[in-house]
Amino acid sequence: MPSIAAARASPMPTVNGDVSSPHKRRLRSNSASFDDPVCNTPLKSCSPLKSKSPRRSVDDSPNRNRSNVETGVSLSKLKNSPKKKLLGSFSDKPIWNPTDSEQLSAVKEALHVSPLKSKSPRRSVGDSPNRSRSNVETGVSLLKLKNSPKKKLLDSILDKPIWNPTDSEQLSAVKEALHVSTAPAMIVCREDEQKRIVEFCKQCVEQEKAGSLYVCGCPGTGKSLSMENVKGCLAGWAKEIGGQLPDILAINCTSLSNTSEIFNKILEKSKPNKKVNGRSTALKQLQQLYSQKQQSADTKMMLVIADELDYLITKDRVVLHDLFMLTTLPFSKVILIGIANAIDLADRFLPKLQSLNCKPAVVSFRAYSMDQIIMILKQRLMALPYTVFQPQALELCARKVAAASGDMRKALGICRGAIEMLETELRESTCTSTMTSMVRVDHMAIALSRAYKSPIVDTIQSLPQHQQIVLCSVVKLFRKGKKDTTIGELNKFYLDICKSTLIPPVGIMELSCMCRVLGDQGILKLGQSRDDKLRRVTLQVDEADISFALQGIRFFRNCLQ
Ligand SMILES: Nc1ncnc2c1ncn2[C@@H]1O[C@H](COP(=O)(O)OP(=O)(O)OP(=O)(O)O)[C@@H](O)[C@H]1O
Ligand SMILES: [Mg+2]
Repeated sequence: MPSIAAARASPMPTVNGDVSSPHKRRLRSNSASFDDPVCNTPLKSCSPLKSKSPRRSVDDSPNRNRSNVETGVSLSKLKNSPKKKLLGSFSDKPIWNPTDSEQLSAVKEALHVSPLKSKSPRRSVGDSPNRSRSNVETGVSLLKLKNSPKKKLLDSILDKPIWNPTDSEQLSAVKEALHVSTAPAMIVCREDEQKRIVEFCKQCVEQEKAGSLYVCGCPGTGKSLSMENVKGCLAGWAKEIGGQLPDILAINCTSLSNTSEIFNKILEKSKPNKKVNGRSTALKQLQQLYSQKQQSADTKMMLVIADELDYLITKDRVVLHDLFMLTTLPFSKVILIGIANAIDLADRFLPKLQSLNCKPAVVSFRAYSMDQIIMILKQRLMALPYTVFQPQALELCARKVAAASGDMRKALGICRGAIEMLETELRESTCTSTMTSMVRVDHMAIALSRAYKSPIVDTIQSLPQHQQIVLCSVVKLFRKGKKDTTIGELNKFYLDICKSTLIPPVGIMELSCMCRVLGDQGILKLGQSRDDKLRRVTLQVDEADISFALQGIRFFRNCLQ
């Protein structure tokens, strides 16, 4: 049986701390294993067992006057390639005679390297006047990165002088640039999503038609941030066409004293001078208002942006339902944009809207990828006139955050944490000269382990292999939008993983036992049923914790990708 443990990377030291928003935290991760980025590149397999080599058929050609054993190269592999052409020109000539001194000196001459030509291209990149330091310092082979996004990141970083972290002004400017509450000069990587939201609003305004849109996505994926841009775009558009901008009411639902207060806010906005009638609720008044033709023809549309919409989910779901139903009333002027994390909130809580064919359109914000996180960090650091991070440190942060959750809030917190590591190092250093030092990979690794380390990750990392496969199956299953499953269904995913990795699976009885053990550890929750296969299984920890705990093992990383 292939050993998973053998592939496990060694864990990092543990430190406590978390940087995500409080209500999203729970048992958020961990991790621990910071394997060499090189290990993330899958190894290409070589096939030594080809029975008849295509080389043979080339050898058989009458035009060949020597075998490939002599040239030592498989010609079939080189078909039409520059190497093949080069080889062809070689094989057209007779073999040399090394005992002939004239031939020998001609060959030596041809292969001689003059001192003037010995400078490698790498050297000349470093020698450019724009470069402030060598590649040895940055530790990156520029040749390998030629024209890649990473190379561009590196270029922009290398063009600036290194910062001085002992300068308090510089330090606070950097921390400010990386603070979640600092609005970036430009929102990158969310252009498409913003465009779709703006288009939706424009369409409603142009057609004077009420409507609803649901914006969903994991924490820290730029939903709330993007709405600021959307508002700005709409204002610009209204100005450009000389049209009327809808009234905008932006509410963070967590700030409401009770869920139905949202209707008071909407009523206040639509009828600023009208007090809520004591006998009739704000909701009823709104329903009345939007059920009859408005007296004044120029009543403005109203854009309601309800962020953290899941706070309106009550047991009877009635508030959420009534809110969206406002957009379906015959004379409604409400354009509603609800924002929350759950991808299926609209399906689960608004079934009646669906039956009325008024289901909100959905725009989903996907978790940020590694390249996107790098780009966003780079964009936020661009305004600073100095280099703060070693490119590899930013890359490590982006790689780990993207693998765990794709949460930009987390990435920013970890970068600030890494700066604190550098500060501590400098404080403890005995050197008194003015220090210039970049945030390095080791600072970032400690900040990452602080941010992600949690007891649950330790537990997951020390589970037996098959229990880890079960958890991996659960994550894969729940990624498809499910919130619970049955042991029978879980068994199918478990068998798939075992099959694809050639690991002999255990039987369903044993799988059920493993689920019970995972339940005892507080990782899974099992429902009751006489038939084991029908027992419901739910996850009691964050999926991100599981992904983070297992991603250090290449086997699981491949499974979870
Ligand atoms: N594209 C981006 N460019 C720059 N900064 C970003 C970007 N996306 C996210 N951020 C940063 O991450 C922070 C979190 O983003 P935001 O508040 O929009 O997340 P969210 O999707 O609303 O998360 P939640 O579901 O937790 O409310 C922002 O305050 C911002 O600082
Ligand atoms: Mg938000």
